Amino acid sequence: MAAAGPTEVVVVGSCMTDLVSLTTRLPKAGETIHGHKFFIGFGGKGANQCIQAARLGAKTLMICKVGKDSFGNDYIENFKRNGISTEFVGQTEDAATGTASIIVNSEVKTLFNPAPAHAELDPQFYTHADIFCCNESEAEILTGIPVGSPEDAGKVGLVLLERGCKRVIVTLGAEGCVMISVDEPIPKHVPAGKVRAVDTTGVYMSINTLGTALECQKIEDSLQGAGDSFVGALAFFMAYYPNLSMEEVIRRSNFIASVSVQASGTQSSYPFRKDLPQDLF
Ligand SMILES: Nc1ncnc2c1ncn2[C@@H]1O[C@H](COP(=O)(O)OP(=O)(O)OP(=O)(O)O)[C@@H](O)[C@H]1O
Ligand SMILES: *[C@@H]1O[C@H](CO)[C@@H](O)[C@H](O)[C@H]1NC(C)=O
Ligand SMILES: *[C@@H]1O[C@H](CO)[C@@H](O)[C@H](O)[C@H]1NC(C)=O
Repeated sequence: MAAAGPTEVVVVGSCMTDLVSLTTRLPKAGETIHGHKFFIGFGGKGANQCIQAARLGAKTLMICKVGKDSFGNDYIENFKRNGISTEFVGQTEDAATGTASIIVNSEVKTLFNPAPAHAELDPQFYTHADIFCCNESEAEILTGIPVGSPEDAGKVGLVLLERGCKRVIVTLGAEGCVMISVDEPIPKHVPAGKVRAVDTTGVYMSINTLGTALECQKIEDSLQGAGDSFVGALAFFMAYYPNLSMEEVIRRSNFIASVSVQASGTQSSYPFRKDLPQDLF
């Protein structure tokens, strides 16, 4: 498998055996729960990178140490199967091979943002994501439907549900977003708070959802990164407030993204929790 000639990629790094349990949820301290699957995998960031390089055709050598135990023996075999030189993979009696106990909780939701979008997106992305979240231009690339209104976004949502999405969110800039799901296949528009962008390279007069006017800003790239702010907020609320309705999660995420459009830069415009109205949390 590996190329002939001298070693081109040497990786000094970790090599871990992953012990993976699939469960519906994480156990509480001291609790025993039933899992539905268990498997052992080869992991460790260093080893993973070495394997990927080898599989792309690089002549590779791994420098690491494993225990003189069955996990260590198996890992050395795994390196050999992938064409990686193991002459510097040590084995020690003094310690066990590193293991990582991983519990994969099926409540962890998958949020997929198809950016940058390609018309020929692998169809598995539609079916595997719990939430498929795109903006107007991504929606058009994926479906061919130009999006200029919440109604258009609803049409996109219906097409993406037909492709196997469970839930779709189309963001619409100042218009907020439209959501639709298999359970409620009627598009729902969730507007963002009033923010008046006078000119994308000029002055912004912003009014938050509490009705108080926020400062005017003269900046060039104020709107950059609102989509990522929105998706990040969505992930935060889904992970930490699993009981909130999706409409409420979107309303709060709209608010946070609309705060981000009032400051300059991308990450520099993303608000901190301490600076936001506390009733969001
Ligand atoms: N002018 C605005 N006023 C209020 N909210 C906004 C405004 N622009 C963006 N938002 C908020 O940000 C979210 C994402 O915006 P948008 O649909 O423009 O994403 P995007 O095109 O991916 O953004 P960007 O290109 O800036 O990264 C919107 O759903 C909305 O909540
Ligand atoms: C949507 O996101 C893409 C990145 O995938 C970006 O290039 C594009 O400008 C965004 N569209 C809108 C309407 O902001
Ligand atoms: C969510 O709701 C369930 C069932 O109503 C409840 O047991 C749980 O404590 C709630 N979780 C949070 C984080 O509020």
